[in-house]
Amino acid sequence: MAVGIFDSGLGGLTVLKAVHARLPDLPLVYYGDNAHAPYGVRATQDVYDLTSAAVHGLWEQGCDLVVLACNTASAAALRRMQEAGVPPGKRVLGVFVPLIEALTERQWGDNSPPREVAVKHVALFATPATVASRAFQRELAFRAIGVDVEAQACGGVVDAIEEGDMILAEALVRSHVDALRRKMPQPQAAVLGCTHYPLMQEVFQGALGSDVQVFSQADLVADSLADYLERHPGMTGAGAEHRFVTTGDARRVSDRATQFLRRRITFEAAT
Ligand code: DGL
Repeated sequence: MAVGIFDSGLGGLTVLKAVHARLPDLPLVYYGDNAHAPYGVRATQDVYDLTSAAVHGLWEQGCDLVVLACNTASAAALRRMQEAGVPPGKRVLGVFVPLIEALTERQWGDNSPPREVAVKHVALFATPATVASRAFQRELAFRAIGVDVEAQACGGVVDAIEEGDMILAEALVRSHVDALRRKMPQPQAAVLGCTHYPLMQEVFQGALGSDVQVFSQADLVADSLADYLERHPGMTGAGAEHRFVTTGDARRVSDRATQFLRRRITFEAAT
């Protein structure tokens, strides 16, 4: 038993790293569906089916709480899974809400009506599927009024990161920032709406300039998870060990994860 952290591939490791730093004693099972990454170019139904199967697998393995550390999966599957009903004692959480609460200066779980907030012009960088879903704008509209969001679908960035081609990833980020700036010359804030993108955070910040506040999810999700577990201590699980599971090539995925987290990570093959 542990808390499950799910992503299409390696991006959720940015969330895992922040959660581990915030909650060092919390046992975690990381599940990367690397065999099917990237999700961001898949149809909604496909992302829903893959996400749902992985989350059910984690629940069956004893992870009572699963965090979708993937915006694409959160956009396509979270609401639908919650509405379909989760098994008794199980929970699934996503990554949008903590980010939007930070952007709109709200405390965790503040469900008061939408109001004006300081930030007016927001750039959203996300996968094509997340941008197409408009899930970010929908969640934002529940909490804030008068915020202009310009979204940039960052094709190719997740593939380059999954392949370990950081030079290509960097070039793509710069060109996506240029494309965004043509639509919104002066964003006040930028949201990195994909858990792979914190691996490129310095490149985003450099291309956007220091006057743009860049929001990325890892620390925000870790803080809200800590808060959630304080209110629901029974969801922590009783396991003690971290495990890393992938549907992809375990050796290759371990090498990439080791490179990203700068410590030895050993994945096992999903059964
Ligand atoms: N990390 C996933 C996200 O946050 C990447 C999606 C993908 O596989 O394209 O959206």
